[in-house]
Amino acid sequence: MSSSTVYLNGRFLPQEQAFVSVLDRGFVFGDGVYEVIPVYGGRLFRFDEHMQRLNNSLAAIRLDNPLEKTAWQTLLNTLVSKNGGGEQSLYLQLTRGVAPRDHPFPANTAPTLFASSNPLVPVDPALLARGASAITLEDTRWKHCNIKTISLLPNILLRQQALDANAQEAILIHDGLVTEGSASNLFIVSHGLIKTPPNGPFLLPGITRDLLLELAAANHIACQECNIDRHELLHADEVWIASSTRELLPITHIDGQPIGSGHAGPIWQTMNQLYQSYKQALIAGEVEQP
Ligand SMILES: Cc1ncc(COP(=O)(O)O)c(C=O)c1O
Repeated sequence: MSSSTVYLNGRFLPQEQAFVSVLDRGFVFGDGVYEVIPVYGGRLFRFDEHMQRLNNSLAAIRLDNPLEKTAWQTLLNTLVSKNGGGEQSLYLQLTRGVAPRDHPFPANTAPTLFASSNPLVPVDPALLARGASAITLEDTRWKHCNIKTISLLPNILLRQQALDANAQEAILIHDGLVTEGSASNLFIVSHGLIKTPPNGPFLLPGITRDLLLELAAANHIACQECNIDRHELLHADEVWIASSTRELLPITHIDGQPIGSGHAGPIWQTMNQLYQSYKQALIAGEVEQP
């Protein structure tokens, strides 16, 4: 199998030939941020929104964006076409660069810029049909979960704990309130109303989440950003998680208990259809591209 092409610090090259110094602050400290952008029909999904979130993450860690938006667009579109277009998952990462190991920000150090693009792996249709399981766990992360940092060790440990319990996701609880999944945002349906926790320092402002809010509003479907506690979560009619890689995945069991009927619910069906139609419109070139 031919290897994929990646981008590293100004060059497109085969993945096996791309190397980063052991002194890169991403490697040594996890000092960097990232984005994952799905690509459908060769088109970048919600490019503007991803760039905005990237800029927010960069500002939060006080790292300048080395590229203008149009330069990012050219770079990422070139990478996608070098890897064959179609359906892909784009990954981009910026770190504070290579410098002797020391905590303070290094002076005059160029950031490391890496991007890769791989075939998009769709969610297993069997899992989608039966719904996923989740467990609730104490949210042990920090107070800046809105930054899309590459320092993902807490998320990894939480996700693994869920997998070890034969669940697909960990739903995180901070001070008694649900924040999000270990790698996803969370929605519930309670008494017919869609609810999701509000953006803030304790969760990542997901691109999929925000699109769902937009689609609900455009289709006059009531949706509320509000606090949700564990009791309301467990007694919801429906629960779903949302992310670029898993799209809208129904959660039919939490902590071993069925949610609602124990099957994907009707409001999930409606929102998933709206989401899938949006994707098809993007593929057909009907969604305005930047
Ligand atoms: C912690 C966390 N929350 C939410 C999300 C969903 O974000 P998006 O919809 O932009 O993929 C992710 C995605 O990786 C995540 O890691």
